[in-house]
Amino acid sequence: MQENYMVCNCKQVSYNDIADALHQHSKFENVLSAFEDVQKVTHCSTGCGGCHQKVLDIISEIMMSK
Ligand code: FES
Repeated sequence: MQENYMVCNCKQVSYNDIADALHQHSKFENVLSAFEDVQKVTHCSTGCGGCHQKVLDIISEIMMSK
């Protein structure tokens, strides 16, 4: 079990928020469309954008461990 931590400080989105959004809304087709799904749900990476790469990394990590 991955420890929860804040990924997007602007929008207060944590690792678990991203994982949940991914499991509930994404079809796991590819990282970019999964990112869009996660963004729609959590609004992560819609502030300063500084977490963009972190969010992508987390999504691909979760998709790969599926
Ligand atoms: S930290 Fe995510 S948009 Fe700024």
